Formats: sequence, structure tokens, C-alpha cells
Amino acid sequence: MATELAQTIAADNFLIPESAQPPRRLLMGPGPSETHPGVLAALARPTVGHLDPFFLQLMNELQEMLRQVFQTRNRLTLAVSGTGSAGMETCLVNLISPGDRVVVGVNGVFGGRMREVAQRAGANVLAIERPFGEVFSLEEIEQAIKSHSPKLVGLVHAETSTGAMQPLEGVADLVHNAGALLVVDCVTSLAGCPIPIDAWGIDAAYSGTQKCISCPPGLAPVTFGPRAEEVLRSRTTPVQSWYLDLGLVSNYWAETSRAYHHTAPINMNYALHEALRLVLQEGLPARFARHRYHHSALRAGLEAIGIQFAVAAAHRLPMLNAVLIPDGVDDVAFRGRLLRDFGIEIGAGLGPLKGRTWRIGLMGETAQASHVLLFLAAVENCLAAQGYRFTPGAGVAAANEFYTTAR
Ligand SMILES: Cc1ncc(COP(=O)(O)O)c(C=O)c1O
Repeated sequence: MATELAQTIAADNFLIPESAQPPRRLLMGPGPSETHPGVLAALARPTVGHLDPFFLQLMNELQEMLRQVFQTRNRLTLAVSGTGSAGMETCLVNLISPGDRVVVGVNGVFGGRMREVAQRAGANVLAIERPFGEVFSLEEIEQAIKSHSPKLVGLVHAETSTGAMQPLEGVADLVHNAGALLVVDCVTSLAGCPIPIDAWGIDAAYSGTQKCISCPPGLAPVTFGPRAEEVLRSRTTPVQSWYLDLGLVSNYWAETSRAYHHTAPINMNYALHEALRLVLQEGLPARFARHRYHHSALRAGLEAIGIQFAVAAAHRLPMLNAVLIPDGVDDVAFRGRLLRDFGIEIGAGLGPLKGRTWRIGLMGETAQASHVLLFLAAVENCLAAQGYRFTPGAGVAAANEFYTTAR
């Protein structure tokens, strides 16, 4: 009785049981990133029906904002209900028919996932491989296209597992000259560094909400250009996934039809709308510059205490800083202390980089001076606790020096 009463009072007061009360964290890992309070507040707006005129109008606005962020005029641009992996599957299962030849660049975990999804969609996949942390040259891509004659080439722009950025300029020409489509994973790069879909000739791309867009995870922006749409139209076999079949999904998003397909995650779409509004209010060039700026401050701080980057300078991602764990420092103990004592989350290395790298995210809302400075101070604390030798305060001082002198 007493418990019931306590629960009633708790519900009346909107008190949350301790087990469901999230701790305060500073998200400096590979995603999710920090979320703007306005985006979190959008999640709590009243839920309406998925065919409510209000929601349909919001979907129109979302599509238009996504086109601006993707820097495209592509008609078929929408937010798939699901995380970034759903975006990957949407692109691949819609564009691949069983037996199609596909080239995928595998230089990290997410290229590997692309290969797997393409294989599951029935493709004959040639995977070109590079060690984790390296990128593909135009020559390597050209060679693979010559030897495999693919219908589709898939590349990851920002390999979150390694911190490397794949150069994409010039790739579309090679791919199109061979009559193929270029599909790009921009889960981590969209809204954090340039990925102009139309200017770079990308035929289809997918992203996620929880990286540089700074929205919670749950939706996957995708965009399909005219060549990709033509491939969709000329399919003779059904898309392997009913849920991700763009023929069906786009009937729901198209202003002219609006046929029920699935119940859209209404409140997630509110959140994405608000997050995109904030991205566009800041402006893409300013946002890209902000990511580069705080990356430079972080780099100055880390290098001042002897921490080196894992990726060659020319190919580093500004929003995902992969650094080498110094000799003698215990990875798990370091990250554990950072989380326990400072509430800061960073990412562990993945695949062959497990135990060798840390992945420090500066994505979207996370890319701020206050976070960089707090992080460096906390890193110094956690390194000192392990007996790692460095000049105390040097990391924070170097970042401060950058912030006071750099423009
Ligand atoms: C480059 C890249 N591709 C795909 C994914 C998969 O996205 P999700 O985990 O949202 O399904 C991620 C997630 O980190 C990613 O970084």
C-alpha cells in the first residue's frame, strides 16, 4: 500500500525512478554526440498521428532541410526510420539486385559492414582492402572498377572506426565512366565537414542523426539522385527488405500520395527537425569551420602531452580524433576513470585497433572549447593516475594558447 502510494505520488510528480534516470555524461566518443536542449525538448512535444496534417507538413520541411544539409537537389531525400545502419541497408538493398557486381572499399569496420550488407543483398562483391587508418587512392579505385565492372561502388567517407577521411573528389567520374553508381556512407561526416552530394556526383548517400547533426540516434537521412532513381525504377525483382523498400517508403513521404507504410517515429522526427534547423541556422561553412577549429585545439593539447594521432595528417577526420594509447597506459582503466570521475565518454579502438587507439569525438554540439578544455584537464588527471610522465598542465595550456591566438 505504502509502495503503491509512493509510486502514485512519483507518477503525479513526474519523478523518475533512479534506475531510469540517466547519468549526466559528456559524450566525446564516436557517437551519440551531445544534444542541444532544444532538440531534447522537441522530443517531448505532443505526439500526433503519422498522417496528421501537422506531421505531413513537418515531413515536407524535413525533406527540404535534409536537401540543404546534403547539398543536393535530389527529390528522393528523406529520413529512414532506423539508425545509420538502416540507411546503409536502404541504399544497398534498393540499388542491388541478386547477382549484381559491386565494389566496396574496406578500410575499417563500416566498410566491412557495407560489404556484408551487399553480400546479403545477393551481390557479387569485390572488396578492395586497406589497413585500418589508411585510405584508397583514385588509382586503386579505378583498378578495382576495371577488374570487376561493377554496377555500384560503395565507399565510407568518414570511417568512424579509424578516424580516416576517404577523399572523394574525382571518384564519381571514374565510377560514372564505367556506368556504375557511387554510394557513400556519410554517417559521421554529414553536417561536420563538406560532403556536397551533387557537386561530387554521389548517386546515393546515407547518414545517421547522432553524430554531427547532434540529435539522438534513431533516424537515417538518405538521398538518391536521378541515376539511382532510374535503377530503382528498372528493378525487375522485389527489394529484399519490405520495411526499407523505397518504392513503398517514398509513397509515404511523397506529397502526392501519403500512403501508410509504417508508423513513423513521430517525436524523433520533431527532434531531427529541430536539430537540422540549428544546423542550418549556424550555416554549413561555419559549422565545418567550427569542427576544424576545435579539432586543432584538441590536437595541440594532446600533442603537448605526448599523445600522437593514429591517422596521417592529410586524412584526419576533424570530428573523430583517433589517437594512439601511450605505452604503459591501461586502456580500460583510463577510460573507466574518465567516465567514473569526470562523466566523460570516449570510444575504444575497434577491430585491429582495439586496445591501441582511443576515439575522441568532437561532433556537432560536442565541438566546443569548454568541452575540449575540460577533456584535456581530465585526460591529464587520468594519465597522471597511471604514472604516465608529462609536463602537468601542458595539454590544457597548449589548447588555451591555440584558443587565444588562432582565428
Ligand atoms: C561510418 C558509419 N557507418 C555506419 C554506422 C552505423 O550507424 P548506426 O550505429 O547508427 O546504425 C556508423 C555508426 O557509428 C558509422 O560510424
